[in-house]
Amino acid sequence: MASSTTNARDLEQIVRDGLSTLVFAFGFKTGIVDAFTEIQQPCTAKELSEKAGKKLRYTQEWLGCMVAAGIVTITDDEKYSLPHDKTQLKIWGHNAAAITILSEMIPKLEEATKLDGPKGYGYYEPVLHWIDVYRSSEALQDWNQRLLLPVMNLKQGNAFAILDIGCGFGKHSREVAKLYPCSKITAIDMDQFSIDNAKKELTKSGLKNIEYICLKGGQLPDEWANKFDFVIINDVLHDSYEVDEILEGIKRVLKPDGFAAAYDPAVSSYHKKVINDATAQYFLPFSLFQCLPVSSMGPNEGLGIGWGYERRKQKIKEHGFRVVQVGDKDIDAIQEGIVFQKM
Ligand SMILES: C[S@@+](CC[C@H](N)C(=O)[O-])C[C@H]1O[C@@H](n2cnc3c(N)ncnc32)[C@H](O)[C@@H]1O
Repeated sequence: MASSTTNARDLEQIVRDGLSTLVFAFGFKTGIVDAFTEIQQPCTAKELSEKAGKKLRYTQEWLGCMVAAGIVTITDDEKYSLPHDKTQLKIWGHNAAAITILSEMIPKLEEATKLDGPKGYGYYEPVLHWIDVYRSSEALQDWNQRLLLPVMNLKQGNAFAILDIGCGFGKHSREVAKLYPCSKITAIDMDQFSIDNAKKELTKSGLKNIEYICLKGGQLPDEWANKFDFVIINDVLHDSYEVDEILEGIKRVLKPDGFAAAYDPAVSSYHKKVINDATAQYFLPFSLFQCLPVSSMGPNEGLGIGWGYERRKQKIKEHGFRVVQVGDKDIDAIQEGIVFQKM
């Protein structure tokens, strides 16, 4: 008899937490949370409403929601505190605000899920802006230390030709350019709006070692053959509808001793392995609303984050690459990065 695994949780509690998240997001988006961090705590509802520039009665109701949820604390004499670190409030407030953006996409998603509906849809601009803020300088620097430097250290020196495929607004490539001032970064994205944004920010940054080009990852030019020491492809493969073309392109443009590194959320391809998994709980909703619809726009079935680590690794191998272990993490363990070389 087939065995079944249950991860049933208290549905009512999940919904209550979701509602609290929405109210927290509202406070973050409208400046109540900011006002709270700037005011002397504990404070009265009136003091907070005046600081935030909001009506007292609405502020009281917001506070009620947050006290009930355990996010805000209250003293016996009815004064309120928000006992969380400012940086954490900023990070999780921004994350909570994603729910409001995803909610706006419900009509599009509803159409795409219909049997006779469209295959998917393109990027929703507010999502791209949301990602840009999510990629804070601090987060990117930490990411570079943990995930990029161990890969870059596989080659001697610091003057590399680096290709960033699917650079988005280009924040990450600018951090890499700062880290490797003697290297030349070519950063491409198929989305003109993203490249325009990246170019604008590049001018402001004064960096001279990046070039942004609007180009599809599946159409890398022939003259780039054997040109790059490193190819970085961050948060792109699972969004793409041309993974085969991108991987074939990487094979052409990577130097024989070069390394490619593809990063996607560390989620398994198998639902049995995502039970109670925090990474899957966090990322799969973004996939349902944005990554899967975007990657469904090509001739094949969409990928999305649910495509998962195991199938992603398999696809890379099928294109004739050798997957390289970096550090002591076994390549069979679910992880964000897959580093690979030409055979
Ligand atoms: C989730 S964003 C990631 C952006 C950036 N790499 C980062 O980590 O912040 C995915 C980006 O990949 C781009 N993209 C998706 N498929 C692509 C393709 N086939 N060729 C080029 N860019 C692609 C999208 O336009 C989008 O900007």
